[in-house]
Amino acid sequence: MGQPQVSIILPTYNESQNILRILNSIKESIPSAVSAQTIVVDDNSPDGTGRIVEEYLRSMIDTVGYTVEIIHRRAKTSLSSAILQGIQHARGDTIIVMDSDFSHPPSIIPKLIEALRTRCDIAVASRYIRGGKIHGWPAKRKIISKSATIIAKNVLNIKTADPMSGFFAFRKNLLEGIIFDGLGFKILMEILVKARGARIVEIPYTFHDREEGNSKFNSHIIKDYCKSVWRLYRHGGIEPRRSVRFLSKAGRFYTVGTSGFLINYIISLLLTHQIPEVWYLHANILGIASSMTSNYILNKIWTFQDRDFSPKRVATQYAKFVGFSSMGAAVQLGIVFSLVEGGWSYPASLGVGVLTAALGNYILNKKWTFKERLWG
Ligand code: GDD
Ligand code: MN
Repeated sequence: MGQPQVSIILPTYNESQNILRILNSIKESIPSAVSAQTIVVDDNSPDGTGRIVEEYLRSMIDTVGYTVEIIHRRAKTSLSSAILQGIQHARGDTIIVMDSDFSHPPSIIPKLIEALRTRCDIAVASRYIRGGKIHGWPAKRKIISKSATIIAKNVLNIKTADPMSGFFAFRKNLLEGIIFDGLGFKILMEILVKARGARIVEIPYTFHDREEGNSKFNSHIIKDYCKSVWRLYRHGGIEPRRSVRFLSKAGRFYTVGTSGFLINYIISLLLTHQIPEVWYLHANILGIASSMTSNYILNKIWTFQDRDFSPKRVATQYAKFVGFSSMGAAVQLGIVFSLVEGGWSYPASLGVGVLTAALGNYILNKKWTFKERLWG
């Protein structure tokens, strides 16, 4: 056969009960006008999936315009890396990725090819648009999938409804120049982040949980997913939603605050311990000053990533930072005093006072000391 137009990547691990049926079903689903190859990528399945495919290849009757090939990998590393290896091997200019356990109905293949041909760069078979469904998954799995989707969409600013889909198609040249991490299960998510600007179309389908064999989904895959989101986030070029930026900076700001609390406490205590002549209030003042200084430095470098260290800028920022922090303390005292005097209990008043001061501190320093826009 000459150059196939479409390459279907079919990763397998212990799919002996599904592999022959899925190969036949795929073959029947490919439009007759389209030449195609199916590339099975097997990770040395202990149940002999690879051997079954080899036998099938020997007995296969030549079909014009259609071939099946197999890549044997020595061991199971990750689904994403198996798919990437299949893609490297592919000769078609259109790539389709799908599972081998009938979760992804081959009848959708023509729709993916058609969408790619006429109106997009990536065609995603989607469970999460109108007309899409999941059949046979326990609630737990549904919740995990939905949560992962919400995280990906917000943190990585992905617009696609089902970035976790394992069933999708794209033109091979879309990946030129992209370097992949290949972690875990979510190769589509990585493609969506790294091939920015691609036109994406989603095609609804019903996901059916497998009837034969076992899922390879486990807690490692969740861990790999988190790692992958983190790396893709650091990969840059991504503008996460403003709410995410606001909260992640708040997280760093209060982490710095906590470290300041420790520094304050330790220095105030150590000084009186080491030098008995030091008056405890002087020790405490030094503790406060040290923690304010370390808080300022860490917030400048880490929380707000400000790299301008010109003396004038540092001096004004430091003055403002110390000013706002002291003001926070005063406001807190004021709130606690007026609430307690107004009849509130001390613990409740303290809660309101501390929260107000902490929030005020973040907002004032973000806006006025580090001159950032408040929301974002
Ligand atoms: N070669 C290889 N190596 N194949 C693998 C590996 C691996 O490490 N892990 C899984 N596979 C194959 C399986 O044999 C199957 O064909 C396909 O990849 C999907 O694996 P399943 O174990 O059936 O995954 P699932 O059904 O739990 O997860 C499904 O839903 C996810 C979306 O939430 C799959 O469709 C995923 O692709 C999808 O991301
Ligand atoms: Mn499955």
